[in-house]
Amino acid sequence: MQQNSEVLGEYSQPRCIFASTKSQIVGNAKNKLVKYAEFEAFSNCFDYKHELKGKWSSVFGNENPIVLELACGKGDYALGLSQLEPDRNYIGVDVKGNRLWAGAKKALENGWNNVAFLRIEIDRLADFFAPGEVDELWITFPDPQPRKMRKRLTSYKFLNIYRQVMNPSGKVHLKSDSHMFWQSTLDQVAQDGLRIVEQFDDVYAMNPMPPRMQIQTFYEKIWLLNGKTIRYVQFEVGAVRSQPLPDREEDRSEFFQDRGARRI
Ligand SMILES: C[S@@+](CC[C@H](N)C(=O)[O-])C[C@H]1O[C@@H](n2cnc3c(N)ncnc32)[C@H](O)[C@@H]1O
Repeated sequence: MQQNSEVLGEYSQPRCIFASTKSQIVGNAKNKLVKYAEFEAFSNCFDYKHELKGKWSSVFGNENPIVLELACGKGDYALGLSQLEPDRNYIGVDVKGNRLWAGAKKALENGWNNVAFLRIEIDRLADFFAPGEVDELWITFPDPQPRKMRKRLTSYKFLNIYRQVMNPSGKVHLKSDSHMFWQSTLDQVAQDGLRIVEQFDDVYAMNPMPPRMQIQTFYEKIWLLNGKTIRYVQFEVGAVRSQPLPDREEDRSEFFQDRGARRI
């Protein structure tokens, strides 16, 4: 039988749970609780309890620019960039504490002081950062959200949130395996008249590959094993107020065909 989990990664998790034994499930739950407790205690981890809006420079002890990795999971890009470009401060943002825990632990073990982790819903970014406090943001292998365009992290809704914490010249970087997500991002960028700074339609066809592109995330490795094309675009967030894109049913159908998933 074909292993859906290999093809679909996280999107198939509810179906894979039956493959686990009861003791594995209990073990995983316990493990998660331990990680949550450690996350709370780690000096580089923050959540909704911390009032840091406008005060992030005090966390890092310097005035260096602040770069976010959104939907960061284990924070692979935040960690990688923190070593590649150490004169900046990086904050990995995700709602899942047990994933952030992995990145936070690695940063602490290596003494990387220019990385921190924030466990919040990205929708609430403006409650945690002051206007202009964020210099750049990376969105790495976000959930494609085939059914709800506004939930995509480059939709009109999210771009309007990012503008609340960035200056118009602030840069948004997207690295993705999903053609549908990629296309809707380019459509939104075109509709808003935003400036594209750099665009790579097939990152792994580049030779040489720029050092920033060589950082690989947990999900990127899975999609590469599945033969997916990895794309990247960098654009300025701009000053306009984004409006929704028209819905494109054909993109959604293409996505489900591609993933081999059943449409419910
Ligand atoms: C497919 S994973 C990618 C993780 C990581 N960037 C990688 O490439 O390995 C998507 C991540 O986005 C996070 N996420 C999705 N929507 C979110 C939201 N609104 N707020 C915070 N995190 C969110 C999920 O918790 C998940 O960890």
